[in-house]
Amino acid sequence: MNRKVITIDGPSGSGKSTVAKLLSERLGWSYLDSGAIYRLVAYKSLNSDCRTETDLLKMIEGININFEFKDKVYKVYLDSKDVTDAIRDEIIGEEASKLAKNSKVRTALINIQRNYGCSSNLITDGRDMGSVVFPNATLKVFLTASLKERAARRYLEIQNNGVATDLSEIELTMKARDERDEKREVSPLIEPFGSINIDTTLYDIAEVVEKLFSIWDNKALLAR
Ligand code: DC
Repeated sequence: MNRKVITIDGPSGSGKSTVAKLLSERLGWSYLDSGAIYRLVAYKSLNSDCRTETDLLKMIEGININFEFKDKVYKVYLDSKDVTDAIRDEIIGEEASKLAKNSKVRTALINIQRNYGCSSNLITDGRDMGSVVFPNATLKVFLTASLKERAARRYLEIQNNGVATDLSEIELTMKARDERDEKREVSPLIEPFGSINIDTTLYDIAEVVEKLFSIWDNKALLAR
């Protein structure tokens, strides 16, 4: 079976993960959060004795990752431990972005991403899903939003979790992470060839999901 794949790439805070999750639910497709894979590797390396690149690659070889999306609740497991919240920490995001510069790490993670969900239709989000991991995806989307808006969204998210935070610091960290993800030599964050660009600055999540659903519906209709 030739499975259908929709890729949603974009910088942090563009809303891609939330949109991808909701769209996968609406279409009944599998969902892969590729950023979570990089975060899991970062989490495991920070909580283990990985000192060298060889240690890191060996650790990736044996990594046991599981995603669960049930009753609208999304969970991420590492070696059967629920790490859904733990990997969302800013420190883990920073470390993930640093590890993501390593070409051997990226190569080691490519098959995990490509084999995910076996042959079922897939919605996936990340930085290089449409450009490198699934270059022949059925539909490619690039989500953006202004830095100010993305930082404000992240600020609200952290505040809603009851953690004190500082908006200008979030903006600075986000800017640095964007630059690292965009300027790295291997698989940088780019707008993939043939993708549809949607600026979400002025839209809420439900509007973006609706927009993408109708783009997909029209495309599917035309292909019939
Ligand atoms: O989307 P996120 O914030 O969960 O991703 C964390 C980091 O992982 C991001 O800063 C860069 C890296 N990443 C990547 O390099 N390629 C991907 N496809 C997904 C994430």
